[in-house]
Amino acid sequence: MITIVGSGKVGGAAALFTALRKVTDEILLLDVVQGLPQGEAMDLNHMLSEKGIDVNIRGSNDYSEMKGSDIVVVVAGSGRKPGMTRMDLLKINASIVKGVVENIRQHAKDAMIIPVTNPLDPMAYIAYKVSGFDKSRIFGMGNMLDLSRFMQFIHEATGYSRNSIRAMVIGEHGENMLPLPRFSTVAGIPLTSLLPKQKTDEIVQATRGVAAKVIELKGATVHAPGNAISAMIEAVMNDTKQVIPVATYLDGQYGHSGVTIGVPAVIGRNGVEKIVELDLDAAEKEWFKKGVDSVKSAIAGLEL
Ligand code: LAC
Repeated sequence: MITIVGSGKVGGAAALFTALRKVTDEILLLDVVQGLPQGEAMDLNHMLSEKGIDVNIRGSNDYSEMKGSDIVVVVAGSGRKPGMTRMDLLKINASIVKGVVENIRQHAKDAMIIPVTNPLDPMAYIAYKVSGFDKSRIFGMGNMLDLSRFMQFIHEATGYSRNSIRAMVIGEHGENMLPLPRFSTVAGIPLTSLLPKQKTDEIVQATRGVAAKVIELKGATVHAPGNAISAMIEAVMNDTKQVIPVATYLDGQYGHSGVTIGVPAVIGRNGVEKIVELDLDAAEKEWFKKGVDSVKSAIAGLEL
C-alpha cells in the first residue's frame, strides 16, 4: 500500500499518476481536513473505474490507517506563494512534517518515506532524524522534478524527442540546484557536444527559476511534482534499480556528511541501494557545496 499524507493538489496528482502506473493495488490519501481525502479518493476511483484499473484509493483523516504501508509520501504543509523561495517555508512546515513523521514511526514502522514538502532537503533531514529509520529508507523528491524541467528545456533547445533525453540534476532542491549538462545526454550524446556553453548555461538558469514562474502564472505546481513522485514509487515497487537523484543522508559521499541533499542513487525495493558518485569538476563541486551549506544552515536551526 502507498500512503500519501497531504491530499491537496500535489497529493491528489501523486495518487492519480501512481494509480495509472498500476504499481500497487491500494493507495491511502490522508489529510487533516475533514472530507478532503475522502472526496479526492471518490473522484479518483470514479476515473479508475471508467479506465478499468483495479487500484483502490481510500481517503481518511485517521493516521492509524497507514499501518502496513510500503511507502509513505509526505506532501503535507504549505506551498509557496508567488515571490517566496522554498526555504521561506522552513518554519511553517518543519513542525508539520515532524508531526507526520512521528505518526509514521508509530503506525508504519516498516515503511519507506518520500518527503516532498518544501524546503525539501531540510524536510528530508527531519524525516531521517525523527523517524530513526535507516537512511536508505528516506529519499526526498526534488531533483527528479528538477530534471523533468531540465529535460523540457533540452527538448525545446534541441528539438529532439523527449524520449531520447536523459538529464541529471543534483544538489539542493532550491536556489542552489545543480543541473549538470556534462552528465545529460540526447541518445547518449553529451549535451555539451550538442549545445554551446552559452545555451547550456541559459537552460541551467531557466531550470532553477521555472517553478516560481509556474507558481506566478497558475498558483502552484501540480502535475510535474505528482508525476515525479509516482516515478520514484514505481522504481521502488517494481525494484527497477533506476538511477534517480534523490534527497538522502550523506555520510562522506561527495565529500560531505551530516546533511540530506540530492544525489544520484540506485532506487529499488530496498530504497536507496547505492549512492552514485559523479566525477564533478571544480565549478560543479563549488555549486554543490553552496547547496550543502544552505541546507546545513537551515537544519542547524531546527529543534528535533
Ligand atoms: C516545485 C516544488 C514542488 O519545484 O518545489 O514545483
